[in-house]
Amino acid sequence: MKSTLLKNCRIVENNKLISCHLFLEGEKIGHISDDPITADEVIDIKGKIVIPGMIDCHVHCREPGNPQKEDYLTISRAAAKGGITTFLDMPNNTPPTTTVERLEEKRVLAKKSLVDYGFHFGADGKNEQEIKNAKNIASVKLYLDLTTGGLKLDDFSSVERILNIAPFCAVHAEQENLTNVISLASGLKKKVYACHISTAAEIQEIRKNRKSVFAEVAPHHLFLTEDDAASLGMLGHVRPALKTKADQEALWNAIAGGLVDTIATDHAPHLKEEKMEKEIYGFPGLETVIPLLLHAVNEKRLTLQDVVVLTSRNPAKVFGIHNKGQLKEGFDADLAVIDLDLEKEVRGTCLLTKCAWSPFEGKVLKGWPVATFIRGTLVYRDGNFFPHQGKEITIIARRPQPPTREQNLIPENPEGENSPSLQREKEGSLSLQQEEENNG
Ligand code: DOR
Ligand code: ZN
Ligand code: ZN
Repeated sequence: MKSTLLKNCRIVENNKLISCHLFLEGEKIGHISDDPITADEVIDIKGKIVIPGMIDCHVHCREPGNPQKEDYLTISRAAAKGGITTFLDMPNNTPPTTTVERLEEKRVLAKKSLVDYGFHFGADGKNEQEIKNAKNIASVKLYLDLTTGGLKLDDFSSVERILNIAPFCAVHAEQENLTNVISLASGLKKKVYACHISTAAEIQEIRKNRKSVFAEVAPHHLFLTEDDAASLGMLGHVRPALKTKADQEALWNAIAGGLVDTIATDHAPHLKEEKMEKEIYGFPGLETVIPLLLHAVNEKRLTLQDVVVLTSRNPAKVFGIHNKGQLKEGFDADLAVIDLDLEKEVRGTCLLTKCAWSPFEGKVLKGWPVATFIRGTLVYRDGNFFPHQGKEITIIARRPQPPTREQNLIPENPEGENSPSLQREKEGSLSLQQEEENNG
């Protein structure tokens, strides 16, 4: 088995940066060492910071159906460049991923990906047997509001049936729909994953129902508001829509209070020409999420530990992704090397996503990913790609039984006196094993 030494790294541990050398054994992190032991290959990281690669648990690849917007190769190049080592793909394609056969088609198409990937499965209200038969899915995605694709569920009785049979559900539910689905889940003693929370009122719902809901926030709701939507014009359409400054502040406060479990891009590429022509929803986000978050670290709005927890450790735990999400011996060596001092402007034309525009156009951000390793292989460095075949992640089996005890990943910090990451460290997150027990 080939060994690789990443010499002179700095890594984030317990909210501190520590200098070390990372010894990789094949695809895994072998050990984290003080001594630069020899290896088959030695790569000098030159004191840069190495974090676990982002697990982006919410992206929309457009294959099959609309490969002109994105395909598995382009999405994965954008991901690798953005410091994302795994993505979870949503089911609202044309046709939607609501049958095992269509999931298998996606599995074939996704072999082009350079980075690792997993799949959410769709629900159309009529495919319960398919849901039961689908294997290794991250979640069953329930659309309770109108958006891209035709997957909106119109009656709560089918939502209830799906919550009962699915191993885990993610929801696109805004405002009253969020309130209703959380209350349904809570009555069934289930815990749902709420995508892209965007308002202060939704944060209140999350706060009241921590036992029944995981909360995801998207970067565009953290860094843009309705004022940006106005200046973006036709390009500014996204679901959920960009909100007020007060809503945005509520999201940042929720992060500080430990109420948010994950940050995910909701990368939803549409070509500029398509958006200019009619009202369609979605922003690309893969290549800007880590720079935006690192910029916030430089501005002291977040710590690096927060970034690592929200973009990698928690996504792996929430979705039960085997062996990923932590810089730990025996885990997959999925790594992003970041340069916290590098300043660059976001330019749509430089993006690798097929849609090649960005709602963050012109923002100068400090802190960028510079190299990415997937399972021990250098896949991207300073603008260059190296051949690699991504593979499907393994989801730790969940049984569709109600959880028997509280399974909050991150306890809330009502005082807000400690930094969220310290609080999380102190009270601890669930281990994967606990998470498994809770699910079955
Ligand atoms: O803006 C959005 N775009 N929101 C969604 O829920 C779906 C997504 C898409 O697939 O285009
Ligand atoms: Zn959505
Ligand atoms: Zn989405």
